[in-house]
Amino acid sequence: MAEPLVVALLGFGNVGSSVWQLIEERSRRLGWAAGRPITVRRALVRDPGKPRPVTPPPGFLTTDLDEVLSDPAVEAVVELMGGLEPADTYVRRALSAGKSVVTANKELISRDGPELLRLAREHGAQLRFEASVGAGIPIIRPIEEMLVANRITRVTGILNGTTNYIVSRMASAGATFREALAEAQELGYAEPDPSDDVEGRDTARKLAILASYAFGSWVSPDSVYTEGITALDPVDLGYAAQLGYAVRLVGTAIHREAGIEARVHPALVPQDHPLASVRGPANAIFVEGDPVGELMFYGLGAGGYATASAILGDLVQVARGSRPWRPEPRSGAEAAPVLPADAIHSAYYLRLEVADSPGTLAALAGAMARHGISLRQVLQMRAQEGRAEVVFVTHPAGEAEMRQARKEIEALPSVHRVASLLRYHDGTHGNPPRRSTGPSGTSA
Ligand code: NAP
Ligand code: HSE
Repeated sequence: MAEPLVVALLGFGNVGSSVWQLIEERSRRLGWAAGRPITVRRALVRDPGKPRPVTPPPGFLTTDLDEVLSDPAVEAVVELMGGLEPADTYVRRALSAGKSVVTANKELISRDGPELLRLAREHGAQLRFEASVGAGIPIIRPIEEMLVANRITRVTGILNGTTNYIVSRMASAGATFREALAEAQELGYAEPDPSDDVEGRDTARKLAILASYAFGSWVSPDSVYTEGITALDPVDLGYAAQLGYAVRLVGTAIHREAGIEARVHPALVPQDHPLASVRGPANAIFVEGDPVGELMFYGLGAGGYATASAILGDLVQVARGSRPWRPEPRSGAEAAPVLPADAIHSAYYLRLEVADSPGTLAALAGAMARHGISLRQVLQMRAQEGRAEVVFVTHPAGEAEMRQARKEIEALPSVHRVASLLRYHDGTHGNPPRRSTGPSGTSA
């Protein structure tokens, strides 16, 4: 009988307890896949006395890190505490002791991935983090392994279950933002600090990891242009629906010649685009590669068991001693530059409150035209007591030009306010695969 892989959990919350339960329930299947049994020795928590939905054996929960990390039998550590500290220190200690680490911590990996991978390499350990991008959706390993022959040019999609749950509930059930967020927290989808979800930071971290693997070059989450959903007004969800669009929080990274464009913001998605039918905690990721064309990965982007599925996939790889196929993404001075937000090019939706008087629309259109922005649609949505609400839809334009036009519009005497500005999703769904000519080098 092969020696078991002895695992310790750092964290026994939503995901940690699901990992433990799944290992208990599926031990035969996992042992068969790994070629050796997988067993969990201990779980580190803050408060072992806290009531929990599952009851582990007596003595299983501990607050003593040394009991976990100094145990020579523990070969792999699964970090599911979240946050930067003390998770960072504990992961470094585990790797330095030669223990492999599996984690779902996108905050940590997106910030310190290159250093932690180097530490793992130096100590003959593995560091795996499949769950950190799509939770239950396999995406890093497919990119690293099955898509190794491709030059990936774009990754885009819905990468956060909490915000997708909120926008779908607001649009379909008329729930308020607060109600929908409370439900998402109750269902275990949200981060311990839910502002990470709703301000878009969680999506930016996932996009940074995803883009790093897709393009072979580390992208810092700090360089991702990030807007969340807190400013989303239900009025715009309604108008978007009237125009034939759903609103989703979308992350997009594009490998351009000049560098990497990476951004997260609410986007209008055509109702017939697959992203528009991604509802609740589901996520979907599009990968555009040459020669494969466009692929869509869809599934549960949050939730304890879905995430545990990816954690166990990684643990089996650790148990088997498998190594990733592709070199790690380039980092530091060798990494590709990330383009500034001004490089964004998009069609825009603007909702304005203006004076209901002659010449107002001409003045607005004039301000747009002076910055080279051409209008596709102008709609007067409602008017009362001398005020009108107007929606402009533009053709694709540059972010810098739109910022200047907005400034000029806000200074017009007939404009009360620009109530909202949203971008359109510029995915290429339905386009045929693009083949580049000539020999291709590495993915970047
Ligand atoms: P959670 O329910 O809040 O669980 C966190 C666990 O870590 C708890 O057991 C907690 O102990 C323990 N912990 C926190 N700080 C600690 C400390 N300083 N010392 C010892 N133990 C500590 O979080 P979760 O939802 O399971 O998420 C865990 C990780 O998975 C996060 O990185 C998250 O971003 C990621 N993730 C979550 C999901 C999801 O759907 N929830 C999906 C993908 C990835 P107590 O139990 O005593 O409080
Ligand atoms: N809070 C995250 C989400 C958990 O809602 O997507 C999964 O990473």
